[in-house]
Amino acid sequence: MTSPTSSTDIDLKAVYDRFADTYHDNRGQFDISPILNGLIAGHSLEQQHLLDLGCGAGEPVAATFLRQGWTVTGVDFSARMLDLASTYAPDMIPVCADMLDVDFHDNTFAIITIVYALFHVPAQHHLTLLARCFDWLKPGGQLLFTYATEAYTGQPTFDGTKTFMGEALFYSHREPETLMTGLEGIGFTIESTDYKTLGGETFLWVLARKPAT
Ligand SMILES: C[S@@+](CC[C@H](N)C(=O)[O-])C[C@H]1O[C@@H](n2cnc3c(N)ncnc32)[C@H](O)[C@@H]1O
Repeated sequence: MTSPTSSTDIDLKAVYDRFADTYHDNRGQFDISPILNGLIAGHSLEQQHLLDLGCGAGEPVAATFLRQGWTVTGVDFSARMLDLASTYAPDMIPVCADMLDVDFHDNTFAIITIVYALFHVPAQHHLTLLARCFDWLKPGGQLLFTYATEAYTGQPTFDGTKTFMGEALFYSHREPETLMTGLEGIGFTIESTDYKTLGGETFLWVLARKPAT
């Protein structure tokens, strides 16, 4: 697939390469450890392999799972982010690529996370990517991701820029109802949808499961 992010005016990869260190230095203001610990504690599949799309510097997602003995594959298109991840999550298997371009065997991962990253992908590609995640998950596996909504952008649907930590970044979303209909159409069972405000920013956290049979 050609890189759809090139359809925006912002070269997000270059932006994240430039401000990866600043982002990581400030990452602690968004404490998601209760969410990650709950996800790990509630997980029941035997083989423990996480795919983290838009993994950034490997903290906190990859590092938390690695500490619990999981295998972690992390995908990010920012080489500088993956440099940082080699320090903060050294055992993570890094894949430097656009998440829209990667491919994995079906039924590989017990959990897939896309934390604070899917909203950077143009919304017209969200369901295609989420359908691929469905295939990559083991039966019974879970998908956790954050979704931008009107609570963040001020508009019911959005394709544009917002400033975050002093950087103009591309964000994209549709209405939550459209997303939920799409997820169910793919075959996911939606387990929870929660608006959470962390570090002063509100996103929709979606937990969905690929049915076990
Ligand atoms: C806000 S950071 C979140 C990083 C990490 N998930 C976290 O929780 O801190 C967004 C990350 O997604 C990456 N990213 C954005 N769009 C991407 C894409 N299309 N493919 C791969 N990585 C992408 C960026 O390089 C950046 O590292």
